[in-house]
Amino acid sequence: MTTCPIDEPLLQVRGISKAFGGVKAVNQLDLSVQAGTVTGLIGPNGCGKSTSIDCISGFQPVDSGAILFQGNDISNRSPDAIAHAGLMRTFQNIRIYDDLSVQENLLVSRQEFDRFSWMTAFAGSRAMRDKERQSAEKAQELLEEIGLQRYLKAPAGILSYGQKKLVALAAAMMSDPKLIILDEPLAGVNPTVITRIEALIKNRNEQGQTFLIVEHNMGFVMRSCHHIIVMESGAKLLEGPPDVVRNDERVIDAYLGRARDRKEPA
Ligand SMILES: Nc1ncnc2c1ncn2[C@@H]1O[C@H](COP(=O)(O)OP(=O)(O)OP(=O)(O)O)[C@@H](O)[C@H]1O
Ligand SMILES: [Mg+2]
Repeated sequence: MTTCPIDEPLLQVRGISKAFGGVKAVNQLDLSVQAGTVTGLIGPNGCGKSTSIDCISGFQPVDSGAILFQGNDISNRSPDAIAHAGLMRTFQNIRIYDDLSVQENLLVSRQEFDRFSWMTAFAGSRAMRDKERQSAEKAQELLEEIGLQRYLKAPAGILSYGQKKLVALAAAMMSDPKLIILDEPLAGVNPTVITRIEALIKNRNEQGQTFLIVEHNMGFVMRSCHHIIVMESGAKLLEGPPDVVRNDERVIDAYLGRARDRKEPA
């Protein structure tokens, strides 16, 4: 297995571009994610955040530029290959199986991951059964961590939107990825579940998990991220720690302006 030399970013995006017809969704974007950090990716609607994630995770091909993960070029590799390299992501529109139980959703995520490497070779073997037992234990632990253990056998379709987002996040964690990319994990989620998602990210990061998170909830971004990258019109506008980004005039004008200008009641 390849390991990152010390200080080399876990993820390096070098000048990637992606156009849809005449729309330059991503335009020469550079960004890096250091191992062990929670990195935020923010910017106005339509500035290219989700498209960037799609390119990084192999769900969209890039037109140009390079994406290095642990120093290896993963540009335009398949989502399976990129997941197997250790990069998992969630989607802005949740992708879980409503008809499967909550537990099955987690197990399927792990099975889809394993299938790519050795599942076929070991099908029916003892190693396979051991793996299945370990996966069931991991699913149980994750569901306890996210407070959904009582829904283990329930169809995922009965969960609230926020609970489904928790399941999608847990599913992404089933394969112990080195980097998890989340696309708007808090959007449309009630405050109780926001607290739970925030705690899960914090706990996991304290255990060494690296995250890249696209999110519009600025309170969460400022509290949870070590480093924030601001995008505008498909490219990076600026980056830095929360205190620097929060006070940058360009960010205030383009993105936080309305919040800052709003008068607090006397
Ligand atoms: N599959 C697609 N086909 C055509 N245009 C697309 C496609 N996906 C994205 N776009 C366009 O690319 C631009 C960037 O969209 P993208 O979804 O990446 O923005 P975003 O920053 O994630 O926005 P939001 O904060 O609203 O989720 C937009 O103009 C969008 O309409
Ligand atoms: Mg988006």
